Amino acid sequence: MSNSTSAVKSAFNVEEIRAQFPILKELVHGKPLVYFDNAATSQKPRRVIKAESAYYATINANVHRGVHTLSTKATEAQEAARETVRVHINAKHAHDIIFTSGTTASINLAATSLGQLLLKKGDEVVISGMEHHSNIVPWQLACERHGAVLKVIPITDSGEWDLAQIPGQARNDVFTDKTRILAISHVSNTLGTINPVKKLIAEAKKKGIITVVDGAQAIAHLNVDVQDLGCDLYAFSGHKAYGPTGTGVLYGREDLLERMPPWQGGGEMIDVVTFEKTTYAKLPFKFEAGTPHIAGIIGLGEAFRWMEDYDKTAIAAHEHMLLEHATKELLAIDGLRIIGTAKEKVGVISFVIEGVHHYDLGTLLDQQGIAVRTGHHCTQPLMDRFGVSGTTRASFACFNTMAEVDALVAGVKKGLKMLR
Ligand code: ALA
Repeated sequence: MSNSTSAVKSAFNVEEIRAQFPILKELVHGKPLVYFDNAATSQKPRRVIKAESAYYATINANVHRGVHTLSTKATEAQEAARETVRVHINAKHAHDIIFTSGTTASINLAATSLGQLLLKKGDEVVISGMEHHSNIVPWQLACERHGAVLKVIPITDSGEWDLAQIPGQARNDVFTDKTRILAISHVSNTLGTINPVKKLIAEAKKKGIITVVDGAQAIAHLNVDVQDLGCDLYAFSGHKAYGPTGTGVLYGREDLLERMPPWQGGGEMIDVVTFEKTTYAKLPFKFEAGTPHIAGIIGLGEAFRWMEDYDKTAIAAHEHMLLEHATKELLAIDGLRIIGTAKEKVGVISFVIEGVHHYDLGTLLDQQGIAVRTGHHCTQPLMDRFGVSGTTRASFACFNTMAEVDALVAGVKKGLKMLR
């Protein structure tokens, strides 16, 4: 992709990368930590931790408010982070980048504001059956508020969109004349499926449908170019991309953001306030009411600068190698079934084992120092689709190794000896 600006990329060396993550030296139950819960939140390199604490130690002040030196420095550091994110996702303007507290807030902003702008009784919003709750519930709320209808793209047995037909829809078509919004995930947090978002966005655009992409699980693993994707809005969190928790982004196409009403009211998002009428600030501040998580945003900028130092294609190849190895070794275990076998996947592997509860397995893995997520992964409708109550999920990041995958496989086998 064309959006990378870092002239010289560091060669991919997993040990050199690991050395930058202090937490990887921690022991859990006396065992070296094997961290395979990156889809929930990734670990943070030292640079990010330092950048966040340096803000508090040296330039702590509110942004866009004071003429004093510290306020100016804090503002410059925050706005530098905005520019870094802009470059990373190839947005046209820095003001297309709105800082939020995370993907959930970004999608709630989108659903509330777009709902008000676009939806009326009988209109339709299309999502897919593999969405995270945070890309379902905000749209349900918007539909309830405006009398619109939520339509769901079904999911195939391999965990991909089944675009042939939406239940209850007469035509063999994803969109109808009433569809106003398409809201879909770029990558599934539970299945790891990389969805063909660009293709569906192109279809939606032909019909004037506004497109919103949940990029929470894509941003750290794929080259994301919002102009190339052609989406109207793209949401993601900082904390899944080596940045601090409590940070997120909603990217928006300028002309759409200009038309969208504000989501929250308060300081910083206004131009002139009187008791009779308030006018709003220009982008992006119209959508950034209140004091932001300044330290976190500065950390987020540093995380994106850190990612820019590496070639994401090389990172994706490394994570794919881990996925292939884990898939092969886990499938050799008697009674183990992988949920999510799409052709295109990031390093996420969800599985169930006959006669074994995921929670018990997760607890036994933890005792061996291996962190995985268990449960429904905030995708209850998807669990229903596959007829399971939950899965055990391992999700990889650039700092994981083949030896750690072997430890996971050995850990599962050891756990099974105790459980069956
Ligand atoms: N959405 C996060 C996950 O998939 C929390 O674990």
